[in-house]
Amino acid sequence: MNGTVTIVTGGAQGIGRTIAAFLAEKGSDIAVFDIQDGADVCAEIRALGRECRFYSVDVTNTEITKEAVNQAARDFGKIDNLVNNAGITRDNLLLRMKEEDWDLVLNVNLKSVFNCTKAVIKHMLRTGGGIVNISSVVGVMGNAGQVNYSSSKAGMIGLTKSVAKEYAERNIRVNAVAPGFISTKMTDALEEKAREEVFKAIPLKRLGESRDVAYAVYFLLSKYGNYITGEVINVNGGLHM
Ligand code: NAI
Repeated sequence: MNGTVTIVTGGAQGIGRTIAAFLAEKGSDIAVFDIQDGADVCAEIRALGRECRFYSVDVTNTEITKEAVNQAARDFGKIDNLVNNAGITRDNLLLRMKEEDWDLVLNVNLKSVFNCTKAVIKHMLRTGGGIVNISSVVGVMGNAGQVNYSSSKAGMIGLTKSVAKEYAERNIRVNAVAPGFISTKMTDALEEKAREEVFKAIPLKRLGESRDVAYAVYFLLSKYGNYITGEVINVNGGLHM
């Protein structure tokens, strides 16, 4: 990915940070879009010898996102790739779920992908490009207590396939990665009994690492994914096949 420029949303921490750092290791310069400070991830990336800029962006805001994408294109001279990774959960059973938690999750997880993709595609029309959307196994198989989250993640898959069809003739490839249980602060907090239950359901009998997600993102954005578009890659240890 030498010399490419990649925007990673939600790149200040967690899986997004790992993706940003791994793509930098593979030669890409990185624009981090986040509502949290991205100074740490940018320091990590610069130490790898790549350029990194942080943009304070709430990706649910259409105008601010568009301006930030245009600014990044001016700063770096181009945009080759976009990773739509920013996401949140607000879990509850359907009957207890508040309308505001439905709206918030749909906005952060799905509307943001519309905002970022629309703003970025304009810069890829002549050059081609790659987009990877971080969905979830829950978007593929559903999950009790996550009606808002699973709907947003399933929506990302529909968006992925539709945008892939619209812009394939421009050599813009659009794919999704659907992670299962990944070892993060959230899953570290699981109690022993809950952890055992999770392991029982996963054929590989372990949680995934953020880096496992980053490998799939790299594969899709690099030349190795050159003939792949509209695809969803499961990174879930076999939890759903
Ligand atoms: P995280 O909570 O550690 O990181 C999410 C990042 O997104 C944070 O840096 C946060 O500041 C940023 N963000 C949130 N709202 C934003 C907004 N409005 N605008 C800009 N940035 C915003 O989450 P994690 O665990 O790293 O997850 C990353 C992605 O992977 C999410 O889309 C999540 O749904 C997905 N995923 C995570 C799994 C897991 O096991 N952790 C499993 C499957 C999917």
